Amino acid sequence: MAAPGAKTRVQAILLLALSLVLSSHVVSAFKDNEFKKCAQTSFCSRNRGVQQGQNFEIVPASLVLNTATLTATLSNKPASKTLQLTLTSHADGFVRFMVDELPGVGRYQVPGDVLVSGWETKKAAFKEESRSANQIVLSSGDARVELNFQPFTLAISVKGQPALQINSRNLFNFEHRRTKQDSDPAGYWEETWMSHTDSKPKGPEAMSLDLVFPGFQNVYGIPERATSLSLRPTNGAAPYGEPYRLYNLDVFEYLDDHPFGLYGSIPVMMAHKKGLTVGVFWNNAAEMFVDVVKPGRDTAVQWITESGIVDLFVFVGGSAPAVLASYAKVAGTTALPQLFSLGYHQCRWNYKDEADVKAVDGGFDEHAIPYDVLWLDIEHTNGKRYLTWDSSVFPNPIPMQEDVASRGREMVTIVDPHVKRDHAYYVFSEAEKAGHFVKNKYNNDFDGWCWPGQSSYLDVTSPAVRSWWAEQFTLDKYQGSTKHLYIWNDMNEPSVFNGPEITMQKDNIHFGGVEHRDNHNLYGIYYHMATAEGLKLRGSIVNPESGDRPFVLSRAFFSGTQRVGPIWTGDNAAQWSHLKVSVPMLLTLGLTGLPYSGADVGGFFGNPDAELMTRWYQVGIFYPFFRGHAHLETQRREPWLFGPETTARIRTAIRGRYAMLPYIYTLFRAANTSGLPILRPLWYEFPEAEELFAVDEEFMLGSAMLVKPVSAAGASSVDVTLPQGARWYDALTGAMVPPRTKSHRVQVTLDGIPVYYRGGNIVPRRERPRRSTAAQANDPYTLVVALDDKGEAAGSLYADDGRTFAFTRGDYLHRDFTFKGMKLTSTAHQEPGLPAGTLTLPLTVERVVFLGLPPARRGYKAVIGGKHTVPLEAGPLSMLAAQAENALVLRKPDLPVSHDWTVEIVAA
Ligand code: GLC
Repeated sequence: MAAPGAKTRVQAILLLALSLVLSSHVVSAFKDNEFKKCAQTSFCSRNRGVQQGQNFEIVPASLVLNTATLTATLSNKPASKTLQLTLTSHADGFVRFMVDELPGVGRYQVPGDVLVSGWETKKAAFKEESRSANQIVLSSGDARVELNFQPFTLAISVKGQPALQINSRNLFNFEHRRTKQDSDPAGYWEETWMSHTDSKPKGPEAMSLDLVFPGFQNVYGIPERATSLSLRPTNGAAPYGEPYRLYNLDVFEYLDDHPFGLYGSIPVMMAHKKGLTVGVFWNNAAEMFVDVVKPGRDTAVQWITESGIVDLFVFVGGSAPAVLASYAKVAGTTALPQLFSLGYHQCRWNYKDEADVKAVDGGFDEHAIPYDVLWLDIEHTNGKRYLTWDSSVFPNPIPMQEDVASRGREMVTIVDPHVKRDHAYYVFSEAEKAGHFVKNKYNNDFDGWCWPGQSSYLDVTSPAVRSWWAEQFTLDKYQGSTKHLYIWNDMNEPSVFNGPEITMQKDNIHFGGVEHRDNHNLYGIYYHMATAEGLKLRGSIVNPESGDRPFVLSRAFFSGTQRVGPIWTGDNAAQWSHLKVSVPMLLTLGLTGLPYSGADVGGFFGNPDAELMTRWYQVGIFYPFFRGHAHLETQRREPWLFGPETTARIRTAIRGRYAMLPYIYTLFRAANTSGLPILRPLWYEFPEAEELFAVDEEFMLGSAMLVKPVSAAGASSVDVTLPQGARWYDALTGAMVPPRTKSHRVQVTLDGIPVYYRGGNIVPRRERPRRSTAAQANDPYTLVVALDDKGEAAGSLYADDGRTFAFTRGDYLHRDFTFKGMKLTSTAHQEPGLPAGTLTLPLTVERVVFLGLPPARRGYKAVIGGKHTVPLEAGPLSMLAAQAENALVLRKPDLPVSHDWTVEIVAA
């Protein structure tokens, strides 16, 4: 929705009412001036580029080193104020740097339940290396910390290499709470933006962190925005003269190349250079601005935040996987999703009625296209009263869901956090009575505009409100729901059509008297959490033995959202540039611990043509979350509506997704146990190859597959960068790509995009075309064994019931496959700290496909279990796309997937 502009409130509301009547998002395109810039924001403009860090000094006599914790007084001399500095060394690979006022001042701190617990107490002692009148040097493992006193600066090195400096440019600042003075500058105690006045009862309380990554040319992270993977400097030409912003907002028709912040925020940044990766996380949920500049060989960052405290985690593991693993100890790992949710999702605003649902569901079968989930947007409700049905169009929601479920599929309905102010609506009346809504500054229930018109917003920052909300999802409470119905949370930034920048006033009040200013970026995750708890609760009733895993998609997010469920990148457009930018957007989310994410396939606004649609599906099958979606006013675009040729291409693409699911699910397991990303930038896999550090037009799916999207109309060729030092095999034909130093020009047709297997990997697949993941459950596996230069390869396969929490007790199967010395072996995968997998599946490996075996005069044969012999035959790499016979295929070895076995390849 567009913001009301500089008009009067009344005019604005009339305008909004009109646009609501039109039920339309398409009133106007993105307007830069409807969102605040740094210069229009008091806390940002009074700190941006302002050198005041020299005012801060450590008081040497105050230093106390207690095993893993150093405390000191940080004094702001000119202001005659003191702060408390704490530096802690943690066993999980990070140092935590905190600055706060004295206890009692009560500045806001992100509540513990946003992160995980357990890490706080696992500390690693500091060793005092040296101490002088102006410096103390500490070490802990590979990290060395140098704290200088006058002025205060901090330098961290990792394995002997400089990694991070704090306040080396004197841009540090910390604004104390103060009492109001007549002489205070404008903006300290009140601030007006368009027609909105923020009363700022606590006055100025911003902080500025000055971070330098010495010798690093590339920094990544701080989603969400539509921009490049390697963050561009913010002292460039418009729009890159503005700092990056972290403030969850419903940005209408966002642009495909812009520093402004979108629906979610993860205050995590990673810097990478040859030999070293370092990560930082500022655990703070207020509005943030981040400037990035690149003086000389360094990257320098000024990170300004409106309120809260300095709580900076510095991850010192040295590599990207180590940084992510440490971050996961604090913020958690990706919840293992239900397997169905990794299939294809079909959404649109809106599937109109039960007949429409039936027709779309039937369309997939008629066209033999697999899919798993059908979605219903806001129009399915009775007047945007969530958890109800418009009975004129959905009179029988239970039989409808059961019918879809009878073919092994699921449904999703949308549930947004704004509650229609209608006393006849049970959600509103119960919540109002219990005092569950966010309050305005006068302590009345906040009343804002959203889809239903006048609405109040559940105060999900309160644990009690969250448990009440969770209870709304049991089958008896949510009328018309079944256990096959899952949930989509939208507008949870929160979006308020008539609020400042389409969100809530910062002086609104939450649980515990907390101002919205302090926890704005947490609203989305708390709402998402409460809904997911609801589905967990339902799942524990429906399946008391093992519970059902929840599935809730969210638009807004924060650090920790990975533990709750997936997110998508909101309202993109049916444009090639949006297809293109979806890749760096998803890569960035993977590098900041939130890999389960996707972009609307086809583009939300506008009408994609057959070519864009085809290309989008061809990339979309690699998105961890794979959903087609479209705006209310777009033409219908189910996959079979673009003519038979396009239907066939989309069918091939989606079947390709289903074939990859064993591999994708195995990657999700690694994300679940170790925080590893699913989609990875090339540099993540090839961290020493400098020429790859900024590449974001292609990506890796796990460590085994490389994908080059085609993101321009009419392309007949694309240039592909295939990192050196690895062997690459065309994933369609199986042909090995001859090594080259420069990029490869590859011819493309509309039938597919370039995808490669990386030598050294074994990739599990399921190649029988089915209608859904449920229908694949008993299918045998194929293993693709892509050899490296040494003739070796390794990989694994994870499987479980795909649905319940039984895997947490060890009810899973996890196999490691290795190929070495011409022998393929399957052994149990064991991870320290996890129960051993005990699940046995009566399934087999039905094909093993070898890529890159050296030529043998009379061919090869396989000796299975030391006994029977089967010849290897030249054949296509995949049954799905029979092409050139570049692979050597072992057919029907019938290897039991749950057991140890060996297959030896010998000359025939
Ligand atoms: C928002 C969502 C979009 C949804 C629409 C109606 O714009 O981002 O996905 O279709 O609201 O609910």
